[in-house]
Amino acid sequence: MKQLYVAGAGLMGSGIAQTAAIRGFDVSLRDVDDSIVGRALDSIKKRLDSQVAKGKLEATARDEAVARLHPTTSLEAAGRADLVIEAITENFEAKRELFKRLDAICRDTTILASNTSSIPITRMAAATRRPDRFIGMHFFNPVPVMPLVEIIRGRETSEQTVATALELASALGKTPITSLDYPGFIVNRMLVPFVNEAIHALTEGIGTREDIDQGARLGLHHPMGPLELADFVGLDTHLYICDVLYEGLHDPRFAAPPLLRQLVDAGHFGRKTGRGFYRYGPDGGRLTE
Ligand code: CAA
Ligand code: NAD
Repeated sequence: MKQLYVAGAGLMGSGIAQTAAIRGFDVSLRDVDDSIVGRALDSIKKRLDSQVAKGKLEATARDEAVARLHPTTSLEAAGRADLVIEAITENFEAKRELFKRLDAICRDTTILASNTSSIPITRMAAATRRPDRFIGMHFFNPVPVMPLVEIIRGRETSEQTVATALELASALGKTPITSLDYPGFIVNRMLVPFVNEAIHALTEGIGTREDIDQGARLGLHHPMGPLELADFVGLDTHLYICDVLYEGLHDPRFAAPPLLRQLVDAGHFGRKTGRGFYRYGPDGGRLTE
């Protein structure tokens, strides 16, 4: 397997493309307009430059990785791919529409993988004529740093497809775990109630946002507190995940806290829009208020 096509050049798509290009894959990175793919490529180059400046990456390895990245707005470019990784907005209708079109363009042997955080793999696979060659490959943010990939088997996913996805995860330097196609898979089943409890604690005035986050950082040894993590993931994405999990499990632990929904209604999606539980500058750094 040599050629990857990554659909979606946001937080996750750009991280997946960076990781794959560094590991020697040829990667087409697609988003809906040139300015978004251009921004993604700039941010990848900036991150690789910083690795070179720290002495963690050879300049030639950076240049070769950049040469393997092909920014595009074309769907047809997926016709060359051995495997497609979809990382577009967390929305079932948008993903279904995209997979239908990819299914028509891709070779019969191409595997379609989704990086969804929560949407049932079996439901998306049913939009294609290749449910046996459809799988979940759930990376973690930031992809170049986080070592895990959850491999999620849909109801019809073949053993061969699982084996290929496991191989790819290892070739990308990640450690895979496998999960059934069940709401939240393994990690978000644990993470979502934790983040939601932090939002309830904030709403109920139990502590300030800073104290809640400090509690998790210093008391639980988490690298980020749950509120800053939610801002980092994207409040729009976290809300969508809550809605899918609540629909799937009917358990109030997964119901979206009203404050979360209100922030998203106001257009405050977290770090990517400059405001969520905290405020951020154009470089993504936290502002003090
Ligand atoms: N993209 C790529 N690399 C990044 C990065 C980014 N956005 N942010 C930081 N890094 C890299 C840095 O370049 C640095 O690399 P080196 O060690 O090679 O120099 C390394 O990460 C550490 O960075 P910093 O020293 O600047 O910052 P830090 O020590 O505070 O770590 C962090 C930053 C890695 C993001 C850390 O805070 C962390 O691990 N946070 C928690 C992340 C987490 O829990 N992710 C899972 C989210 S849930 C999910 O992904 C699933 C879902 O479906 C929602
Ligand atoms: P994001 O909002 O940063 O990026 C999504 C990108 O998809 C945007 O650039 C948007 O223009 C693009 N897009 C929308 N429709 C498209 C289409 N038809 N073709 C190509 N591009 C399209 O979102 P993200 O955080 O990168 O999340 C992407 C996926 O990864 C979601 O399914 C999300 O649940 C999942 N995920 C997110 C995280 C996280 O921490 N943010 C972690 C793991 C998995």
